Amino acid sequence: MTTAALRVEPGLPLIGNLLEFRRDRLGFQMRVADSGITRTRIAWRTVYIVTDHELAHEVLVEKDDAFIKGPGLSVVAKPLLGEGLLTAEKDFHRRSRKLLAPAFTPKRMAGYGAVMADRAVAHAAQVRPGAMIDIAERMMATTLDIVGRTLFDADLAGDARAVGDALTEAMEYVLAAVLSAVPLGWPTPRRKRGMAAIAQLDEIVLRIIAERRAAGGDRGDVLSTILAARDDDGTGFTDRHVRDEIMTLMLAGHETTANLLAWVWYALATEPAAQARLDAELAEVLGGRPPTYEDLPRLPVTLAILEEALRLYPPAHTIARQADRDVAIGGVPIAKGAIVTVSVAAMQRRAAYWDEPLAFRLERFLGGDRKARRVGYLPFGAGPRVCIGNHFALVEAQLILAAWAQRFHFRLAQPAPVALEPLMTLRPKGGVWVEPIAR
Ligand code: HEM
Repeated sequence: MTTAALRVEPGLPLIGNLLEFRRDRLGFQMRVADSGITRTRIAWRTVYIVTDHELAHEVLVEKDDAFIKGPGLSVVAKPLLGEGLLTAEKDFHRRSRKLLAPAFTPKRMAGYGAVMADRAVAHAAQVRPGAMIDIAERMMATTLDIVGRTLFDADLAGDARAVGDALTEAMEYVLAAVLSAVPLGWPTPRRKRGMAAIAQLDEIVLRIIAERRAAGGDRGDVLSTILAARDDDGTGFTDRHVRDEIMTLMLAGHETTANLLAWVWYALATEPAAQARLDAELAEVLGGRPPTYEDLPRLPVTLAILEEALRLYPPAHTIARQADRDVAIGGVPIAKGAIVTVSVAAMQRRAAYWDEPLAFRLERFLGGDRKARRVGYLPFGAGPRVCIGNHFALVEAQLILAAWAQRFHFRLAQPAPVALEPLMTLRPKGGVWVEPIAR
């Protein structure tokens, strides 16, 4: 194998590229993207930025066993996520992934699809034409509702509000801790609130698990499959492990999908041609009735809008790993302990992979060779840790997009462009303020 050309960005003495990284992390990744692999230094840490498709595959697929998760998520988010799938490593991860697989089969998805369609319509019905809304916030409420109901069915009815508020508080704490200079464990007011929120979530989720174990039976939700799952030796999940997986799915499942949809509404408000194609498809296939799970294969434009938004605005903008041993990527030696980040956002805007990369173009995902379109495209990651909720997210987003677009057009009520804010997920900075116009 030939060795990839490594770009080196040493930065300033001591702090390296810390300032530029803090000021504009995505801009930094995009500036170096054409190099494929770049070595930087963020304070004392060596950090590689990978934007080459083949090298990304080497990290995520071929040499996955040489890496563990980056410290941001695995250390800071531990009190919230425990040993859930997002943070679990090695054999424990492999076992959990196998045990969770039955929750995401096509048959289960059809059941979740019915819940998603129902909730998508119910949330759209709360929108009042003419009154400005932050559609990013509305998408967050809709996906939180859906994730709650598909994870633990009606059990959540009385607790939905408490879970929603506590999850938001806990996530804000985790996010602040990732970005903060204050050492972990310091009793700041935010940390105290975050820990209290996690304790409250624990109480509710562990109570639901106990009730469910006592009642038995399949309620069609994710929790039912988790409680029924058994290893080859007959063992299943402990209560603590069930709790960790539920927290992980709530966290991984709702904000990502909500942000994808926020970007979709922004893109549609600024791309009349895409909006017109969507209107035509919905009119032809649905003719005014609400969308169902069974309709989805006949809504390719709706899907292409999501896929193109995932390219330009990938919610999981960066996939981070830490080398667990010395390893070579593209022939470039990576020392144990170094951080390797696959910059999905920068890769997906590279001219090497996409014509006119900044243009929003549905044609990229309509017709033709689907496989060719996957080069330089990793919105759900790849390899053994590829997003387990990939199909779940697309079904959910397609149903919400169809149900809402059927009732409204959204006029952008703020100046474009909306800035990208790369927090845990890629958010539209300040939200996306729109005026709903009834159709
Ligand atoms: C548009 C929405 C979504 C995007 C863009 C997204 C993206 C990703 C990406 C890139 C990864 C890989 C992370 C890595 O390799 O470090 C991942 C992992 C994961 N996602 Fe998603 N995700 C989405 C929705 C969901 C949903 C709806 C669920 C659950 C219902 C979910 C659950 C998970 C879990 C549990 C993992 C960890 C998988 C593992 O390590 O084995 N995600 N997601």
